[in-house]
Amino acid sequence: MIPEYLDPKFIPKHIACVMDGNGRWAEKRGLKRTDGHTAGEKSLFDVVEGAIEIGVEWFTVFAFSTENWKRPAKEVQFLLDFNEQIIIQRQEELNERNVRICFLGRRDSKVPKRILKRMKDAEDLTESNTGLTFTVAFNYGGRAEIVDAVQKVIDSGVKRVTEKTIERNLYNPAMPDPDLVIRTSGESRVSNFLLWELAYSELVFSNTLWPDFSRKDLFKAIKEFQDRDRRFGGLGES
Ligand code: FPP
Repeated sequence: MIPEYLDPKFIPKHIACVMDGNGRWAEKRGLKRTDGHTAGEKSLFDVVEGAIEIGVEWFTVFAFSTENWKRPAKEVQFLLDFNEQIIIQRQEELNERNVRICFLGRRDSKVPKRILKRMKDAEDLTESNTGLTFTVAFNYGGRAEIVDAVQKVIDSGVKRVTEKTIERNLYNPAMPDPDLVIRTSGESRVSNFLLWELAYSELVFSNTLWPDFSRKDLFKAIKEFQDRDRRFGGLGES
């Protein structure tokens, strides 16, 4: 059910989310930082359900960045195992919900082969689904994505480059640019997320820490989005 305060004609097609504040949520409670990530899983799947409920077509989350390797080895290991467990445990239910799972990021030797295989299996299992496309940005960096796209262009021998040339060489050329990017936890930064794609996205920063975020907060962010005037560099409608 779409809440009555939202205009059903202007539900963003693609919402992307930086799920920030798990560590602080845990520290505030005297828990381990990793307990915050565990608590964040519940929020994530409540928000995914909310997105499905109101007909969002693409939903993308920043699960592990190219910079997250700099965290203490124990937390990196936890995050790798945690992501793997989520893929294993959630793929069947997402498949039943007609969700198509995609991964976005560098599939290089830093990522354990086992996890690369799980990612591919989840994508293969859900590739013909026609509902929400749920993209997990994993070992993802916006600058790395642009560098990788430019390298592909050079390797192809193309001599003239346009914006379309870059777009066609991003990790998933079929992914539309996000209409709305949400970051939780009160931080007002982009942190190397979807740098190319968010050129004209509306940014909503929420003070809520990710483990406290729910589909209600998602709907509130969409309300903020709907109250804005998107002009894409033009003069808009008014
Ligand atoms: C940021 O909190 C959150 C993360 C680095 C990871 C979040 C990952 C998930 C919830 C799992 C997603 C996995 C899949 C497969 C969909 P932080 O540690 O930066 O928090 P802080 O800013 O308070 O320290």
